[in-house]
Amino acid sequence: MTQDELKALVGRAALDYVVPGTVVGVGTGSTVNHFIDALAGIKQQVLGAVSSSVKSTERLLAHGIRVFEAAEVERLPVYIDGADEIDPRGHMIKGGGAALTREKIVADLCDRFVCIADASKQVPVLGNYPLPVEVIPMAAAQVARRFAANYRAEATLREGVVTDNGNQILDVRGLRITDPLAMETELNQWPGIVTVGIFARHRARVCLLGTEQGVRTLTFD
Ligand code: 5RP
Repeated sequence: MTQDELKALVGRAALDYVVPGTVVGVGTGSTVNHFIDALAGIKQQVLGAVSSSVKSTERLLAHGIRVFEAAEVERLPVYIDGADEIDPRGHMIKGGGAALTREKIVADLCDRFVCIADASKQVPVLGNYPLPVEVIPMAAAQVARRFAANYRAEATLREGVVTDNGNQILDVRGLRITDPLAMETELNQWPGIVTVGIFARHRARVCLLGTEQGVRTLTFD
């Protein structure tokens, strides 16, 4: 199977986690696009979705799925989203699609984060994938220098990308994230960082992994 076929497999499998009669949290990316397309087939069963990006909102609306503002809901039973890397405890790197800030906001509303990913995203330790960090443009150079000084890591600006929130993305190479919660907590203190793409506080509770043998379901305590 191609990587896209594996993504489609888990996108469809995620329908099993949608709670009928509720609003579903919807992430961003090519894997989630498959989920949105599958959700269209059962759209009568849900009230609608809270979306984590303009792109996902457009796709949901094109399918006739109602999109709620985050402010309109207090809790979401489930949030379905992809990942760039996922470790054995459900910690993730996210933000390859530059949607990390809204993704973390929607993840914070949910009772259960269901990660959908092809098997290539499973790693023993996070950090091989460049860590996305959303920054206020004024602070981009300052934050990049701090990554070099504190972690000997190279942060480069994602050229031509402006987030849905009007900010910039730094991609940070050279990190080995053995304690994701500690690093997320530390980076959250740096002035100018809006959101760091480590999802440790908001880790996955379930991961549907697309493999050649079919969907593998991983659960994390
Ligand atoms: C977007 C994300 C995506 O979930 C992540 O980049 C995975 O994307 P894809 O499903 O296209 O592989 O975090 O900001």
